[in-house]
Amino acid sequence: MHITVLTLFPEIFPGPLGVSLIGKALRKGLFTLQVVDIKAFARQGRVDSPPCGGGCGMILAPDVLEAALASFSVPSGTLFLYPSPRGRPFSQEMGQEFSAQHDIVFLCGRYEGVDVRFLEKHAFREVSLGDYVLMGGEIATLAFIEASVRLIPGVVGDPTSLQEDSLDVATGPLLEYPQYTTPVCWEGRSVPSVLLSGNHGAIQQWRQEQACAITRQRRPDLWKRYVAKQLPF
Ligand code: ADE
Repeated sequence: MHITVLTLFPEIFPGPLGVSLIGKALRKGLFTLQVVDIKAFARQGRVDSPPCGGGCGMILAPDVLEAALASFSVPSGTLFLYPSPRGRPFSQEMGQEFSAQHDIVFLCGRYEGVDVRFLEKHAFREVSLGDYVLMGGEIATLAFIEASVRLIPGVVGDPTSLQEDSLDVATGPLLEYPQYTTPVCWEGRSVPSVLLSGNHGAIQQWRQEQACAITRQRRPDLWKRYVAKQLPF
């Protein structure tokens, strides 16, 4: 997977994408990360202009963004993503879809946003990290990349751990059951005895029950989807 990020703050990258298993995947070439500094394509020292029609803030100019985009090759089939609170909420399903892409371009907005003509011309898909407003698209881009890249085969050593994730699309989507480790008794709190029983069937059943109970309690929206998926057609 080849990822290009257009940003006014290239120093943010790779950031958390350079450490741990994702960093290893980056160094091994399981994905590549090209970061393009929009400021390098400024027009008379500016990357933005005031909004037409008035209003506060500044808008990233389409000609500046076009020059930034023209500075590298964009293979056909490239997915264009624009992180924005106006977008569809990001999900595990989207992460799975993105993880199968060869080429992705992220455009990180700042200020009051981006001239919509640039988004329209390149059919950018707007994707939201959640119902709150960040200072720009960089934090959302990091999250989308991390959630997608970890699903590329070979990035996470043991692929079964992906299936045990919260929200795994194939098995859930349920929230993950609680985990325990040693010591067996810590500050008066004991590990549930079933987890020490060695009975794998019983452990599996307990974990499934816990996942169902937690999902039902915390995320009735996911629980509804899970129940609907279990019903025979
Ligand atoms: N940029 C600013 N806020 C955002 C959000 N909630 N999701 C994605 N990109 C953003």
